[in-house]
Amino acid sequence: MGPGSISVIAHRGASEDAPEHTLAAYRKAIEHGAHALECDVRLTADGHLVCVHDRRVNRVSNGRGAVSTLELSALSQLDFGSWKDSDEQPDAEDRERTSVLTLERLLLLVKESAAAGRPVELAIETKHPTRWAGQVEERLVRLLEEHRLETPVRVMSFSARSLQRVRAAAPHLPTVYLMQFLLPRHREGRLPPGARIAGPSMRIIRNNPDYVIRAQRAGRQVHVWTVDDPTDVELCARLGVDAVITNRPQQVLSQLSDL
Ligand code: G3P
Ligand code: CA
Repeated sequence: MGPGSISVIAHRGASEDAPEHTLAAYRKAIEHGAHALECDVRLTADGHLVCVHDRRVNRVSNGRGAVSTLELSALSQLDFGSWKDSDEQPDAEDRERTSVLTLERLLLLVKESAAAGRPVELAIETKHPTRWAGQVEERLVRLLEEHRLETPVRVMSFSARSLQRVRAAAPHLPTVYLMQFLLPRHREGRLPPGARIAGPSMRIIRNNPDYVIRAQRAGRQVHVWTVDDPTDVELCARLGVDAVITNRPQQVLSQLSDL
């Protein structure tokens, strides 16, 4: 497998260039040629899935509190964009750069993009722990069934339990087991029940480069996160990983095309 066949997944959108998890960041990722979009999802107090990484909104907005305790109407009042330093100064009027993004809106963007001749895949990560465990997966599967994207969707998680729930509700959905560290029981590419694809951290790959071939021999695809540094991109390409998840899809695509 050559560098050109590695799938480049935009982590929280093109999040080096635009505020993470905003519609602007995802539009930019599509514009830059990303093969897939990554997003984290959390359930609000009134049952909406929104794209927010942290348990609390404090870091990425001008509000405070846990997503799980806030209603969508309250999140919609907050500014999720102005915290980020960028060459492109945020425009207070630019709602795509500052609004909380619902998963539903992101699904629509993926559909719009496919209809415009630019298909893009989606990799959705469930965040745990959360007070809404179980309901997150239920709502996620329901939304995906309602929207029926034509492009592939995967569900990722550090929580094996979450992936099991997804697999039970939607056996056709590919699942990615995210790993921060490589436990001995996973060394040969074995994954927990319910997980299909291996999602090792870049740290795992640097420390255990032969994990890639072992996992692939065990029939696993290997999707590595978060691959921003050119040296890491080169290592991933040399090892033949299946996908890299990056905050800078444009630069990574350009580097891969030069290898
Ligand atoms: O894509 C996997 C990666 O996003 C996991 O880490 O903390 O960025 O969600 P985190
Ligand atoms: Ca994530």
